[in-house]
Amino acid sequence: MSEPRQILVTSALPYANGSIHLGHMVEYVQTDMWVRFQKHRGNQCIYVCADDAHGSAIMLRAEKEGITPEQLIANVQLEHSGDFADFLVEFDNFHSTHAEENRELSSLIYRRLRDAGHIATRSITQYFDPEKQMFLADRFIKGTCPKCGTEDQYGDNCEKCGATYAPTDLKNPKSAISGATPVLKDSQHFFFKLPDFQAMLQTWTRSGTLQDAVANKIAEWLDSGLQEWDISRDAPYFGFEIPDEPGKYFYVWLDAPIGYMASFKNLCARRPELDFDAFWGKDSSAELYHFIGKDIVNFHALFWPAMLEGAGYRKPTGINVHGYLTVNGQKMSKSRGTFIKARTYLDHLSPEYLRYYYAAKLGKGVDDLDLNLEDFVQKVNSDLVGKVVNIASRCAGFIHKGNAGVLVAGNAAPELTEAFLAATPSIAEAYEARDFARAMREIMGLADRANAWIADKAPWSLAKQEGKQDEVQAVCAVGINLFRQLIIFLKPVLPLLAADAEAFLNVAPLTWNDHASLLANHQLNEFKPLMTRIDPVKVQAMTDASKEDLAASQTDTGSAASTGNGELAKDPLSAEIDFDTFAAVDLRVALILKAEAVEGADKLLRLTLDIGDEQRNVFSGIKSAYPNPAELEGRLTMMIANLKPRKMRFGISEGMVMAAGPGGEEIYLLSPDTGAKPGQRIK
Ligand code: 2FM
Ligand code: ZN
Repeated sequence: MSEPRQILVTSALPYANGSIHLGHMVEYVQTDMWVRFQKHRGNQCIYVCADDAHGSAIMLRAEKEGITPEQLIANVQLEHSGDFADFLVEFDNFHSTHAEENRELSSLIYRRLRDAGHIATRSITQYFDPEKQMFLADRFIKGTCPKCGTEDQYGDNCEKCGATYAPTDLKNPKSAISGATPVLKDSQHFFFKLPDFQAMLQTWTRSGTLQDAVANKIAEWLDSGLQEWDISRDAPYFGFEIPDEPGKYFYVWLDAPIGYMASFKNLCARRPELDFDAFWGKDSSAELYHFIGKDIVNFHALFWPAMLEGAGYRKPTGINVHGYLTVNGQKMSKSRGTFIKARTYLDHLSPEYLRYYYAAKLGKGVDDLDLNLEDFVQKVNSDLVGKVVNIASRCAGFIHKGNAGVLVAGNAAPELTEAFLAATPSIAEAYEARDFARAMREIMGLADRANAWIADKAPWSLAKQEGKQDEVQAVCAVGINLFRQLIIFLKPVLPLLAADAEAFLNVAPLTWNDHASLLANHQLNEFKPLMTRIDPVKVQAMTDASKEDLAASQTDTGSAASTGNGELAKDPLSAEIDFDTFAAVDLRVALILKAEAVEGADKLLRLTLDIGDEQRNVFSGIKSAYPNPAELEGRLTMMIANLKPRKMRFGISEGMVMAAGPGGEEIYLLSPDTGAKPGQRIK
């Protein structure tokens, strides 16, 4: 038997200014299942997390609520901890980034980086709110779009025409906080010299630490050259002051990942068997994994390993990236009632239903996961109630009635039992690779075989026949043993079901290795129903309640979705369109003949497109994702060809190309399959 592995695991730290919703839970449930699997296998696996408590959004929300930021983050921490616990997410520690361990570690890491020459300083010019006496991030500036003249637009893009710009391009800019007209002001900022780590990152990101799709995206960033990263913010700011620099604070994203270390350090103080350096020291042999969403890859796969390297710590073994949650095929929507808070779900449904559904849909890639509410009801009822629990409920009664609850010895189905045993390594591999969907498919395949075997033996018919009592007991003993195997396999996903099954089976907590043995001559406890079917009425009640949450929070911007960068997302999908409106859009395959930067425009590319019978000139705000525009030339994409031409400062834009992603470096131009021809209409 190999030595137990030492593994430290984290999930991204949720912002301490909003509630946990089912989108967040994709990550925490996934990480928890993986951690439980490791513990189940006998490895030393530690799972830490914390609230991400710093930044101006938290400072401003506390001010709005008339409480201190410390009070706000304490309240939110209680709420978050309760939500996670009730979803059976079992952290070894749930800490806060606003904690002494984090202050010390952040200062230490900064000092080491500074002393090694990895920090630069220079003055930058930004908008400043003269009333609030604070610098304004782009999302705190509003004004009139310089392109289309729409009022009340944010400082970096227009929701009406889609233009992107610098806040200084906005007409009639106003502070979104005080309403005052901002003024331009200089201040000294501190930068982490990320380019110093280019060579290390080039190797590290290609050393098996990242999924291929993620490594490819990072390679694009690396190829286009890394920029220095602004890690300071001016007072007033809720965070840690930078050592020796009064009035300057660490940007929230500097001390957030250090919060992983701080949470672990805090745990070490309670668990003397844990040694901080054994997990974080340069020569650590422990494994370190961060589970994150795809919107924060740059922070974890570029800045974070560079900070660790520069400060003399070990780097992560792996960054496990997942996609976003959609509900019924669409982005979560408050007005449709599909923006579901963790607590609203828990008020109506058992956490294990969702844990199983997520497991059944989570692969090891970065694809989005769709929670289709009808499929959710159908799948949970059919798999968990109809297949797994059904085996126990079919067999338990006969054992209690016919043999006083004692499960007999012997094995009436050696081939089937052998098949269960033989499937174990593959199920373990699937869990290890985070291919939960494959693990669930294989487990349910075994459940199908067990049910088919029992149906074939039909103990309910045998029980009515004279002299068949021994056969009934033999069949039901196999059934209960196979049920026990399934519970061993499902325990990381369904810990409550496993605990109830252990109580019925009258056994100590099951571990993975128990799969190798069978129960024989064993007294069972009374059988109580282990899981009830999901009633669709409860799902409806949950979505109705989510609409009520919306009504209650309409003045409460803090509960809006996090976009992952601390901004508050608006929900653009609240209005549905009819088919005719959709059909009126002329979607075409377009060949990019030329792609070039636009002088004087930070974010735009000028694209010359071939759409079969004509060429079009289109300006597109995708430069941040394609800093080397020439690489787009010759590529097919899709465009909206009948969009009204728009006069822009640089010329007329005759349509729009289609891209997905949250923005910044994460914009992905859509492409048709190979074989599509320029000008073909998309139907
Ligand atoms: O995107 C977010 O929600 C951040 N609060 C995640 C931080 S993860 C880590 F780096 F702390
Ligand atoms: Zn506009």
